[in-house]
Amino acid sequence: MELKELGGTGVMVPEIGLGTWKYSGGTAPLRRGLELGAFLIDTAEIYRTEAAVGQAIKGIRDQVFIATKVSGGHLRRDQLIRAAVASLGQLGVKQIDLYQIHWPDSNVPIKETMGAIESLVDRGVVRYIGVSNFSVRELAEAQAALRNHPIVSNQVLYNLRWREIEDDLLPYCLEQQITVMAYTPLNDGELAGSAGRGRRKGNAPSKDQGLQVLAEIAAETGKTQAQVALNWCTAHPSVIAIPKSDSVARTEENCGASGWRLTPEQMGRLDAAFTAP
Ligand SMILES: NC(=O)c1ccc[n+]([C@@H]2O[C@H](COP(=O)([O-])OP(=O)(O)OC[C@H]3O[C@@H](n4cnc5c(N)ncnc54)[C@H](OP(=O)(O)O)[C@@H]3O)[C@@H](O)[C@H]2O)c1
Repeated sequence: MELKELGGTGVMVPEIGLGTWKYSGGTAPLRRGLELGAFLIDTAEIYRTEAAVGQAIKGIRDQVFIATKVSGGHLRRDQLIRAAVASLGQLGVKQIDLYQIHWPDSNVPIKETMGAIESLVDRGVVRYIGVSNFSVRELAEAQAALRNHPIVSNQVLYNLRWREIEDDLLPYCLEQQITVMAYTPLNDGELAGSAGRGRRKGNAPSKDQGLQVLAEIAAETGKTQAQVALNWCTAHPSVIAIPKSDSVARTEENCGASGWRLTPEQMGRLDAAFTAP
């Protein structure tokens, strides 16, 4: 498993982590992912999967990098502190490695939210601060509201089909040393060949040029479509991906997306096929 630096922290995290939205796989898939080096697990208070993550990391907490999130509806100081304490309880840990603001709330002053989260870092309850679904403007405001600790990551929708962050957010994060955590990297299974899934755009799958090229490149590289789609994400320097799977076999497959690279020519072909009108 290839590692990447989290923000500018010096801490290395795997380029493939384990997502847990709608996760119902029990302990085995997460444990298998951890064995294969995918030692970052992403959860959130609203997923109701923190307890399952807690079960999976029992006895091996020190080998896992835990990322969870405070709901965007809990960004008042007291709410955020309460949410963090509840997450610690659900996870059964004393410290959250990465505490992310799940989405911004323009009704709450960002200074109040960032002050609350910084107080958790000062108390050792949280190691690093992250955000999710923040635009460049929201990110810059949040950064400006911090006193002592940086924002190290922004978790956002990014996959071959959904490329909006390439316009400004991706370059901004690269410049600011903020890791982009790509969520829904398989487009909810669609890019892995799970028919009928995903946030679809464009043509029917049989006529979809992007999916055709994805299948071609999978055949050429001897990798699966899921592995090619994930490798495409992590080929971008500041990006790590967090696919979710309830299955041990698919978790193994997803971890196999690391340790090799698509060629620039293959990257170019995928880019062209998925951005074609
Ligand atoms: N911050 C946010 O607002 C936000 C939003 C959405 C997601 N996320 C995070 O990102 C994680 C991943 O995103 P996601 O769960 O939306 O979508 P995803 O990882 O793109 O896709 C998950 C779906 O793909 C299937 N799948 C996984 N690996 C596969 C493979 N190798 N072959 C075929 N099918 C495969 C899974 O089914 P099985 O489970 O049956 O394998 C599941 O149905 C989430 O779990 C969550 O941690 C964050």
